Amino acid sequence: MYRIAPSILSADFAHLGGEVRAVVAAGADWIHFDVMDNHYVPNLTLGPAVAAAIKPHCVRSDGSAVPLDVHLMVQPVAALAKAFAEAGADLVSFHPDAEAHVDRTLALIREAGCRAGLAFNPAQPLDVLEWVIDKVDLVLIMSVNPGFGGQSFIASALRKIEQARRIIDASGRDIALEVDGGIKAGNIRAVADAGADTFVAGSAIFGRPDYATAMAEMRVALAAPAGLRQAA
Ligand code: DX5
Ligand code: ZN
Repeated sequence: MYRIAPSILSADFAHLGGEVRAVVAAGADWIHFDVMDNHYVPNLTLGPAVAAAIKPHCVRSDGSAVPLDVHLMVQPVAALAKAFAEAGADLVSFHPDAEAHVDRTLALIREAGCRAGLAFNPAQPLDVLEWVIDKVDLVLIMSVNPGFGGQSFIASALRKIEQARRIIDASGRDIALEVDGGIKAGNIRAVADAGADTFVAGSAIFGRPDYATAMAEMRVALAAPAGLRQAA
């Protein structure tokens, strides 16, 4: 019921294929792929060619595929969304404030065969969801300002996750609620209690020597009875 999506932003870029295989072997549910353009956010990361290169590594030992979850922090959005769909993305999310034609770009992503997501910065309201909820497969709540790994969780995100959960439940649709930024074993339970089902974690996994242990600690926290839950 809960998914952990390691963000390869914090992986060793000199050994990306091996890093993806390592988190897949450690139990990653999705691979989170952060695309930054030095325009919408002040950092520059990975392009479609890198997504295509890691795609063959997103496979479990039983042969099942681990979805490639592409988080676009770019402007403009549409052409790159299409390029990542062609490169093998399973989910493509973008920030609605980076796109004048949100409805059209959600449709474009779905027509390209991917699940479509909208990502919301810490100060960004969820209002747009009211108008496009029928075209959304994923809501991504940013709990840091996008651009860098290793930042601290912004507590107001919890209230926004609760709001997103209400909107999703009212829609009756199968929409993932993903949270991105500052997630670790110590706060993941509070994020889940607010309503999230999918947890991105970069530094809290790749910053540890043993990825399986890092993820196991998160799963233990997610399974903890209420009395043992730690605060965010
Ligand atoms: C931030 C990215 C995140 C980042 C999270 O802009 O969208 O996915 O990798 O890193 P941590 O888990 O270290 O906050
Ligand atoms: Zn991200």
